[in-house]
Amino acid sequence: MGIPVKPDIDVLASLLEQPDFSQIYALADKIRETHKGNQVQIRAILEFSNHCRRRCRYCGLNAENRRLTRFRMEPEEMIHAAHEAYRAGYRTIVLQSGEDPFYTPERLGEMIREIKKDPIAVTVSCGEMSANAYAHLRACGADRYLIKHETADDQLYASLHPCGTLENRVACLRELKQLGYETGSGFMIGLPGQSARTIAQDLLLLREIPCDMAGIGPFIPHPDTALKDLPAGSIETTKRAVALARILLPDCNLPATTSLGVLNPEEKNHIFSCGANVVMRKITPTRYKRLYEIYPANLGDTDILAQRQELEQQIRALGREPV
Ligand code: 5AD
Repeated sequence: MGIPVKPDIDVLASLLEQPDFSQIYALADKIRETHKGNQVQIRAILEFSNHCRRRCRYCGLNAENRRLTRFRMEPEEMIHAAHEAYRAGYRTIVLQSGEDPFYTPERLGEMIREIKKDPIAVTVSCGEMSANAYAHLRACGADRYLIKHETADDQLYASLHPCGTLENRVACLRELKQLGYETGSGFMIGLPGQSARTIAQDLLLLREIPCDMAGIGPFIPHPDTALKDLPAGSIETTKRAVALARILLPDCNLPATTSLGVLNPEEKNHIFSCGANVVMRKITPTRYKRLYEIYPANLGDTDILAQRQELEQQIRALGREPV
């Protein structure tokens, strides 16, 4: 199947709806191999606070969820976990939290400086901040920032986010790029009212930024949110969006998102033949991990070393090289 070098919104929307996607998957896999090689990058994610001042309607951590027990990890605990991840072989750690004002840029910056005493790349994923705050974290050694645009449709964005605008979200992404961060965005599949054109818009926004990383995952309904009765997003559509992202952004890092694995563990392997080249593993201590419930998931106890080794084996079994 011929795909134009720069497909527009109409082309992307119609591709997403093709009855047979196998040739596009094959093309995405080939592009992945050429641009990213055989490696699958394993990244550690530490979820250090579930306090959040925002009220995103799909997210279990939204400020209105009173059923959730809130936690914050102590800086020492975080530094310890990061060091353990380094010793287990991780070379990237993602520090993620809700938008928690307790963790000021100064506090986060100190933590980053400590963690960077090991030669490990630090990704911060703590939501919207001022340009000055982003600049401070960068100066403290942060290498990457992950803040998904969630949906590129203005109206849909507004209906899901009572606390923010798409305009500001995109402004954050542009600011991060300018500061020299490797910049990650992404979006959800299966949001209410989303169409193939919306997803096409999402993909074009990734290219426009342009993003260095993009996490694309299915929406999963959380029982303590306004969207609790909606169906989960489609796995097939998620894989198609990942494949098209690979074609549009050949060098982009594309994770097999955790939410994809939650829906069906088998799928997670398959996504690596559709363009994905990254996987994240939670290293959050067990007692906190269960409280970081963005969407419902069955989570076992955390064992940083054993789980890293297990994942490496699974990746090797796919004929790929874990790094
Ligand atoms: N289902 C799937 N993904 C979700 N996220 C938040 N809530 C949900 C949900 N209910 C994703 C968002 C956010 C990331 C941390 O998790 O894309 O950026």
